[in-house]
Amino acid sequence: MEERILALRQELEHHNYLYYVLSQPVIGDCDYDMLMKELERLEKEYPWLADANSPTQRVGSDINLEFQQVRHRYPMLSLDNTYSKGELADFDARVKKELTEECRYVCEPKYDGLSVSLTYRDGALLRAVTRGDGIQGDDVTANVRTIRSVPLRLQGNDFPEEFEIRGEIVMPHSTFEKLNAERMEAGETPFANPRNAASGTLKMQKSAQVAKRPLDCFLYFLLGETLPSNSHYENLEKAREWGFKIPPYAAVCHTIDDISTFIAGWDRERNNLPFDIDGVVIKVDNLSQQKQLGMRAKSPRWAVAYKFPAERVETLLESISYQVGRTGTVTPVANLSPVRLAGTTVKRASLHNADQIQLLGIRAGDTVYVEKGGEIIPKIVGVNREKRPAHSSPTVFISHCPECGAALQRNEGEAAWFCPDRNCPPQVKGRIEHFISRKAMNIDSLGEGKIEALYDKGLVRIPSDLYRLTAAQITGLEKIITDDEGNRRKISFGTRTVENMLAGIEASKKIPFERVLYALGIRYVGETIAQKLARNFRDIDALAKASYEEMTAIDEIGERIAGSVVDFFAREDNSALVENLKQAGLQLATDEDAFRQKSDILQGKTIVVSGIFSIPRDDIKKIIEEHGGKNAGSISSHTAYLLAGEKMGPEKLKKAESLKIPVISEEEFYRLIEI
Ligand code: IVH
Repeated sequence: MEERILALRQELEHHNYLYYVLSQPVIGDCDYDMLMKELERLEKEYPWLADANSPTQRVGSDINLEFQQVRHRYPMLSLDNTYSKGELADFDARVKKELTEECRYVCEPKYDGLSVSLTYRDGALLRAVTRGDGIQGDDVTANVRTIRSVPLRLQGNDFPEEFEIRGEIVMPHSTFEKLNAERMEAGETPFANPRNAASGTLKMQKSAQVAKRPLDCFLYFLLGETLPSNSHYENLEKAREWGFKIPPYAAVCHTIDDISTFIAGWDRERNNLPFDIDGVVIKVDNLSQQKQLGMRAKSPRWAVAYKFPAERVETLLESISYQVGRTGTVTPVANLSPVRLAGTTVKRASLHNADQIQLLGIRAGDTVYVEKGGEIIPKIVGVNREKRPAHSSPTVFISHCPECGAALQRNEGEAAWFCPDRNCPPQVKGRIEHFISRKAMNIDSLGEGKIEALYDKGLVRIPSDLYRLTAAQITGLEKIITDDEGNRRKISFGTRTVENMLAGIEASKKIPFERVLYALGIRYVGETIAQKLARNFRDIDALAKASYEEMTAIDEIGERIAGSVVDFFAREDNSALVENLKQAGLQLATDEDAFRQKSDILQGKTIVVSGIFSIPRDDIKKIIEEHGGKNAGSISSHTAYLLAGEKMGPEKLKKAESLKIPVISEEEFYRLIEI
C-alpha cells in the first residue's frame, strides 16, 4: 500500500502544481477530489505511513498556534526606495563606479504583500518565517503550508541539500474582495487593502482558517551556500524548474533606458494584474558582483526599489463633515463620490485641519484630486478649478462642536480646533477605546464597536466602569453601528460574547503598570514615556505626587510632558479614576523583579549593539540596562563600546574604528559583566 500512497501523493502534488503554479490544470475538480479522498482514506488506514508534507496536510488544523520566534540564518534586509529616474541614475552610477567588470541588471515587479523566507532541506519544506525585525521573525510554517502554490516537495533532483528562498505572500484581488464582503456581512471591519489582509491572514492562529482565504506566494530570491548559478536570473529559472512560482516577469536590462522602459510598462500594466504591485525592483544580476558591492546597515547596495508615484484620481467632494477625536481635536473629513483607487474603493478622506482646507481652497461640490501614497489613508491633494460649480461658496470651518455644541477653541500656534468639553461623547468613548487598545490594556474582546454600545446604554463613562460590568447587565444588548467607511453593521451580545468580554476584562488586571499608565491616555505620554515614568516612580501614588521639577530631572522627560502629567493628576476626576482602578485590582506599581538592577558594572556607559547574536538583540539590550548601562542606536564619541554581532553593517564598524571606540564580541561582553 505504501507504493499507492506515494504515487497518489506525487500525482496530487503534480496537479496542484499545474493548477496553482502554472494555472494550466489537466484534470477536473471532481477527479482531483477523488484522488484526494482516496489518499485521505489510505493515510487514515495506515497512520504509520503519514507524512507532514503530504498534499492532505495542506488543509490546516484548528489547533491554536503560538508563533515561535526564529532567527534568520541570513538577515532579511529591506530595499532602498527611489521615486525618480534621477535617483535611479545615481544608483546605476554608484554601482558602475564600484564594479570593475561590466554589469547587467534584473528588473522585477515589486509585489505588495509581506515577505517570507522558506527553508528547504532535502527537497522538502522545512520552515517558513516572516521578516519580523529582519533578524528574527515568526515561524508561520503551518499557515504557509496552506498556500497551494508553495511546493511542499520539490521536483527534480538538482536542488541544494539546504537552501532558503524568499518571496512575497500576496492576497489576490478576488480573495480580498470576497473576504471583505464576508466581513461586512458578519458585521466585522473590512481590511483596508490586500496587503493588510494578507498579513492579518498569515498571522491567524488557526491554519484551517488561513486555508479558507486563498493566498499566493511569488518567489524572487535564492540564498544558500551552494546555489546552482552565479546569476540571480538563472537561479530563479532553476527554482522555477523545482516547482516554485517564479513569475515570468523578470527581465534582464543593461542600461538606465532599458530599466525606464520596464518601469513605464509596468506602471501601465499594473492595473491589469490580479494582485497589487507597488513598484519595480532593480538588482545586480551577478552574485559575485553583489558580494563586491556589499550591504548597508539594512539594505543591500546591489539592489534598489523604484516606487510608482501615488495613484491619483478625480472625484466629487459631496460634503464635508467633522469628527471629534479622543482628545477633542476636530478633524474635517471629506465625503466623496465613491471612486476606485489603488485597489480599493474610497469614500472618505481626511482634510486634516482648517488651514489645509484654506490652503487648497476646497469647497463642497468641488471636483478634487485624491491620492493614495504608500500608506492606507487617502488624501486630497488639490482641486480641479475648471470643474467648480458656478454658485459654490468658500468653506467656513464650524465654530461649535458637532457632537455636544460647545464653542470650539484653538491654541496659539496650533492648527487644530478642539472641543473643550471633556464630557463630549466621542471624547469619553475615545478615552475608553484608547484604554482597551492593543498597546494599552489589550482587551480585544471589547473591540468592534462594543464600547459604543456600552456607552449608549449608560454602562461605561470612565475606564474603571468596565471592571464593574456584570453578565446580567450586558447580555442581550444590541446595536447597529456605522464604521468610518460608512458601512452599517449590527453587534449583539450573546452569551459567548459576554463571557469573552468579561474574561478579557478580568485578564487585563494582569497588564503591567507601565501599560496601565499608557492606557490612562495622559497627553504626550506614549508607550516609551510611560515606561520611563513607571521605572522611575515605581507606583502610581509616587507619580501622582511627583513635582514638575522631579519629572523634568529625568532624561527625556521634557517640560511639555511633565506639565501634562502634573495637570492630569491635579484633576479630581482623574484621582477618582485612579482610586477606582486600584480597587478593581489593576497593576499600579512596577513588578520589582522585572526592573531589578543586577549590577552597576556598566553604569554611565553607553553601548551600541549591532548585528546578530546567539540570543535576541532585545535581550542583550535588557542585560545592558540590568547592569546599569544605556543603549544607543548610533555611534558617537560618547559610546563606550560597540557590541558587534555577526553580519554587522560595515559602516558602524568603520565609524567605531575612526572614533577609536572599542569593539567587543558577544563573548567579551558576557565576560565584561561576569555572566
Ligand atoms: S528582493 C535584499 N524582489 O520589498 C533584498 N523584494 O522594500 C531582497 N519585495 O522586503 C528583496 N517584491 O518584501 C525583492 N521582486 C522583489 C520584491 C521584493 C517585493 C519586497 C520584499 C522586501 C521589500 C523591500
